[in-house]
Amino acid sequence: MKNIVVLISGNGTNLQAIIDACESNITSGKVTAVFSNKAEAYGLERAKQAGADGVFVDPKQFDSREAFDRELMSQIDTYQPDLIVLAGYMRILSNEFVRHYMGRMLNIHPSLLPKYPGLNTYQRAIHAGDEEHGTSVHFVTEQLDGGPVILQAKVPIFDDDNVELLTKRVQSQEYRIYPLVVEWFVDGRLEMKEGKAFLDGTQLGIHGYAEE
Ligand code: GAR
Repeated sequence: MKNIVVLISGNGTNLQAIIDACESNITSGKVTAVFSNKAEAYGLERAKQAGADGVFVDPKQFDSREAFDRELMSQIDTYQPDLIVLAGYMRILSNEFVRHYMGRMLNIHPSLLPKYPGLNTYQRAIHAGDEEHGTSVHFVTEQLDGGPVILQAKVPIFDDDNVELLTKRVQSQEYRIYPLVVEWFVDGRLEMKEGKAFLDGTQLGIHGYAEE
């Protein structure tokens, strides 16, 4: 059984989708711990309900990002994780942290990367008049939202859309694609080599896996 550690900052609906998948189709992975940088994150409650440890680490107790990340790493490593899943974890990671988990850390970002790294992706897509938006699961590298994409889901943007409606439409797709990518990883089908993502030994393109 592969140990999965999830990092969150908020509601944890993606965490819940992964927990649920571990109780059904992900047969070789288990969420053993959830870490949050926010005490009030509801995802910590979800963790406890699922029988996983829910741990709050307070950034205010540390002088620097590096010191916080070092403490987080040492606590995470007590679980001997095979995979780190960032699921709405809204903190920039230090390079040391990224390097430590390189090739075994995934993130989900609400845009069709490489479009719209960073914040406020929904507003930016609507404001730009885009006809589609979406979400991307990618390996984490030192470049913010810049690691190799594994899988994306696209949704339409309608004329009378707003951020709230578009967020719901995108998130409903996140709950489908993130557990699937986690399953690929724990089944040993997915790896990162020299900054590229490979699924079943085949290098994935700039938009990740796309069925022929
Ligand atoms: C998700 O929609 C995820 O794409 C986004 O935060 C949300 C967390 O929701 N992540 C980022 O913006 C990362 N840059 P959740 O806590 O309900 O899973």
